[in-house]
Amino acid sequence: MVRVWLMDNTTDSDQRLEHHRNPPVFLDLPELFKKTGVEYFQINADKYTEDSVLAELRAKRGYTYDDEITCSEKCLPDYAAKLKSFYQEHLHTDEEIRLVLEGSGYFDVRDGEENWLRIKVEKGDLIVIPAGIYHRFTLDTNNYIKARRYFVGEPVWTPHNRPSDDMECRKAYLQHQAEQFVQLNKV
Ligand SMILES: [Fe+2]
Repeated sequence: MVRVWLMDNTTDSDQRLEHHRNPPVFLDLPELFKKTGVEYFQINADKYTEDSVLAELRAKRGYTYDDEITCSEKCLPDYAAKLKSFYQEHLHTDEEIRLVLEGSGYFDVRDGEENWLRIKVEKGDLIVIPAGIYHRFTLDTNNYIKARRYFVGEPVWTPHNRPSDDMECRKAYLQHQAEQFVQLNKV
C-alpha cells in the first residue's frame, strides 16, 4: 500500500533514503489529492490485464498507449548519473501515469507551499501525476523498479526543468488546484 510523507529538507545525503521529517509526518490519500491533485489506484499487478479498475481507467481517460520500463543498476548504464537526472525537478505537458509491477521507488511532488511530498510506490500502486506539477523520481535503496507507463495518444516524455512557470500546463495546473481548493472547502 502506498505511503506518503513530508520530506525533510536535507539535500546532502542519499536521495534513495526515506528522508522523513523528525518526527515523521504522514499524509493520507485524500490529503495528497487535495494538496497536489495526484490520484492513486490499487491494481492487481499479477493480473493487471484483467484488472477492472485499470480497464475502466484506461477506457474513461483514453489511455491508448502503454509500455514497460525497468530501472536497475544492471539495466541503466551510468546508473548514478541517471539517478541524478530523474531527480531533477521538472514538469510535463501531460499526465505521468505509472503502474508498479515489481520493486519500488519514490515520486516526490511539490505541494502549494513548496514542501516535497514523498510518495513511496510499490507493486500494485498506480499513480497519476497531473500535467504541470513540479515533481521528480528516484529509486530507493533496493535499486529496482519495473513499471508500466500509460499515455493518451502518442507519448511525450519530455521533462521541462524548473523554472517552467510560463508554460500553459503550469498555469492550468495552478488554476485547477485553486478552483478545486475552493470546491473542496465548500463541502
Ligand atoms: Fe516526470
